[in-house]
Amino acid sequence: MRLSPRLAKIVDLLILPTRVIDVGTDHGYLPIYLAENTSSNKIIASDYNKQPCQAALKHIQQAGVEDRVEVRQGSGLSVLDKDEVDQVVIAGMGSRTIIGILEDDYDLAQRLERLVLQPMAGSSSLRKWLVENNFKIVDETLVKEDDKLYQIIVAQPGKMEIKDDFVLEIGPVLLKNKDSLLEEYFTELKDQWQQIISKIADNSPDNQKIEILKRRIKRLEEIELKMER
Ligand SMILES: C[S@@+](CC[C@H](N)C(=O)[O-])C[C@H]1O[C@@H](n2cnc3c(N)ncnc32)[C@H](O)[C@@H]1O
Repeated sequence: MRLSPRLAKIVDLLILPTRVIDVGTDHGYLPIYLAENTSSNKIIASDYNKQPCQAALKHIQQAGVEDRVEVRQGSGLSVLDKDEVDQVVIAGMGSRTIIGILEDDYDLAQRLERLVLQPMAGSSSLRKWLVENNFKIVDETLVKEDDKLYQIIVAQPGKMEIKDDFVLEIGPVLLKNKDSLLEEYFTELKDQWQQIISKIADNSPDNQKIEILKRRIKRLEEIELKMER
């Protein structure tokens, strides 16, 4: 199984071998890869919907790893028994869905060793939720696939002290590690904020909102400058 750059990066962020569940697996590629390439002794592929479970099962059988990967249908972490896995992957969903999954089975999530999360949108709100709910962000990375930037956040249970909410929003570990795609990420953010400013200005000028966004752009530029030094 050859993984896309996004899924390959997610695998890189797991500590292997492991006992793992891929929540919302869809095609089942990541669990198949783990079965083919690692000695992980518990690999669960789960999905809320029947069709993805069937597709995953078909691919698992085609790859001949049905004795290594178990398919379970159900929502989020509810398909797990207590302490059945150490790590969880939740990828390719919106932040709200990911937060919902963690809220629904919070006690179980708090017993995990590592959560590798790849939100499709709303990564700032996911980071905020994590630190407000006793998870710390231990790693973060950006990955580019088909001209799109994806953020991957690695969390584990524990306290994280955040002195600057803006840094939390952008990605504290991305900044600390000076991620190689940071410049592109900053440009994307500034473009997004600039577009919102133009829209507000065109429709019903709200100077307060515009000022807030301008300040955010300035803050990002200051961080950029500091990093260049
Ligand atoms: C876009 S696919 C992502 C597939 C794969 N994880 C990836 O990143 O390539 C999202 C999948 O999540 C599943 N899903 C959505 N909400 C879910 C939930 N609460 N629990 C389990 N699976 C869910 C959907 O059925 C869908 O198959």
